[in-house]
Amino acid sequence: MKKNELKELINEMTLEEKIGQLVQVTPDFFDQEGEITGPAAEWRLSEEKLFQIGSVLGTHTAEQVYMIQKTYLEKSRLSIPLLFMADVIHGYETIFPIPLALASSFSAELTEEVARLSALEATRAGVHVTFSPMADHVMDSRWGRVLESNGEDPTLSAELTKGYVRGYQGTDLAQDTERLAACVKHFVGYGAVQGGRDYNHVDLSPIELHQNYLPAFQAALDEGVKLVMTSFNPINGQLMSLNRSLIKETLRQEMGFDGVVISDWNALEELLAHRVVRDKYQAAAEAFEAGTDIDMMSDCYINHLADFSGLDSQALDEAVYRLLTLKNELGLFENPFRGITANAASIEHSLRKATKEAAMKSFVLLKNEDSILPVSQKQRLFLLGPKADSKDILGAWSWIGKTANAISLAEGLSHRVPDLTIGKAASWAELSAEEYLSLCEEARNSEVVVLALGESSEETGEAASKAILSLPESQIELVKRISAVNPNLVVVLFNGRPLELTAIEPYVKGILEAWFPGSEGGHAIAETLTGYYDPQGKLPMSFPRAVGQLPFSYQAYSTGRPLTEKNQTEKYVSKYMDVGNDPLYPFGYGLSYSNVCIEAISQSAEVLTREKPLTIQASVKNPSTREGVATVQLYIEDMVTELVRPVRELKSWQKLNVTGETTERCTFTLTADDLAYVHRDLKRYPDFGQFRFFIGLDSRTTLAGQFEFCES
Ligand code: BGC
Repeated sequence: MKKNELKELINEMTLEEKIGQLVQVTPDFFDQEGEITGPAAEWRLSEEKLFQIGSVLGTHTAEQVYMIQKTYLEKSRLSIPLLFMADVIHGYETIFPIPLALASSFSAELTEEVARLSALEATRAGVHVTFSPMADHVMDSRWGRVLESNGEDPTLSAELTKGYVRGYQGTDLAQDTERLAACVKHFVGYGAVQGGRDYNHVDLSPIELHQNYLPAFQAALDEGVKLVMTSFNPINGQLMSLNRSLIKETLRQEMGFDGVVISDWNALEELLAHRVVRDKYQAAAEAFEAGTDIDMMSDCYINHLADFSGLDSQALDEAVYRLLTLKNELGLFENPFRGITANAASIEHSLRKATKEAAMKSFVLLKNEDSILPVSQKQRLFLLGPKADSKDILGAWSWIGKTANAISLAEGLSHRVPDLTIGKAASWAELSAEEYLSLCEEARNSEVVVLALGESSEETGEAASKAILSLPESQIELVKRISAVNPNLVVVLFNGRPLELTAIEPYVKGILEAWFPGSEGGHAIAETLTGYYDPQGKLPMSFPRAVGQLPFSYQAYSTGRPLTEKNQTEKYVSKYMDVGNDPLYPFGYGLSYSNVCIEAISQSAEVLTREKPLTIQASVKNPSTREGVATVQLYIEDMVTELVRPVRELKSWQKLNVTGETTERCTFTLTADDLAYVHRDLKRYPDFGQFRFFIGLDSRTTLAGQFEFCES
């Protein structure tokens, strides 16, 4: 449809039809035969109102979408096709590793590919829009939703977010019906909920917001993301659904967003529980005035917006125009059944292959004492622990994925290790005395014991905040007892957040962080444990020593009394009395079997100007005989700043394939823009003066150089 035709269509619409377009409901609203029943009846919707609604979220199958769309087109006066949205977060039916795991790959190519393949499967089921990527800045793993994030670094998060948007949307949504429109969320600040408790209060300074929370959203906008979802939380007392200044001024004017703004689920009605509106009428009026286009799953707009005497008809037309434009860009007016193909050939096989590869790229080897890993396929292995034969490895937000089709670690390992014994998959507390003795016997007779531990999917994601981040006592006890009979102990972890591993770390020789690895998890872990694949993941979030260190980021701000190597025993320095300041495993960290390392670094000059960027080189050595991947990271420190700033910030990274017994060079170019930060005036620009840079294989690296940023 042409632009002017869309405008003509809007001219034909009644006030109710316009408002209806701005309402989103679940499929059960359309489960109607004859009389209106179910949730539609609860909202007191007439048939006329029901068939004015603009979009649906959370359908399960192509048949369901087909039936709803067909009935809708028959019954609605203007036959404007419905838009179908869903949470396709890390795959649709075939489940990829959770986003936090994918972030461990430090690879926007990978997030792009995963998003492309997720779109391929979801569009076949009739989905048009995904509520992904989540671009929330996070520093607190008590918050279960860190699982959906790209971790604690805003620059890394921005790159990965771009990858997702490219992969979902492609370049032409109307032509390419195997792509989805993307909705970046949650705008904004949701990751800063106080105490890590979901749906809690958020208080953020404007500097912090601009420096760390907005960049990943800007990145999504730069890639042309079609929708933005506002978050549940308030910022500085102002709920995001009502936050005119952040939606209209920051998002639309300053950041340049002209797509659709959608509320989060029932967020408008929840304004009443927040006690910032008297009734749904006020909720609808104020949310619309603030710039919320779509009301997701509340009846505020559909039942109350028309009563708002101050409703700006031009603003209403603009909101409807944005929505119709999206439908048009997806080609829905010409093809309302977009993506649904009868008798489509199965793509499951190729997707499962891709999910296995993605999983292998996302595992992080946290510990490998005495090179206990990789194990040889000829070794006698004993696998046990509550996650040993568990298929609960998909993680939260895998609602269409079938747990029964996931490959457990036991299944994966039994394919690769002939001499494998699998013990009862249980925690210490669930074992009888007899079972325990027999486990000990098996452990004693094995060369290596693999303990599969971690969280359940239920314990992660939305509404899954935790105040205790160590493993459950009965898992810790199992580690201690088994290590007493066989010290050759390797732990494989399945979890959706950085955990506190301090209690188990001293008892084990190897730790492989497998996250929630997705449908092919067991195969991917088995190939990694047996050395077919070299682990290459790097932590996108630090693992704390103790939960009391949270919120935590490697981007620690400088303090007037910094803790140094020399003043460890002094009292009046910024430190904890009971635990170190540093995390157990820092951001950017992850070991490999090839033991790649940085041999030397060099720089092209001592000075950087706007015209002359600085070139920094590192030689990366692979001392082993196997091929390895190095993720070389470049950090900077601005020596004198207008505002208090972090002592170190990631600016760039490169993934390098290094064949065995060779040395490769990698080159970084640092420009003036890389030195910029948000100043008092909320503008981003660099300061002249001295800088240090650090190059290494994690955020703790001490390999450093210095340069000056000058005018010429
Ligand atoms: C979540 C969103 C999600 C939406 C729709 C909400 O509870 O916060 O992230 O997209 O539900 O399912």
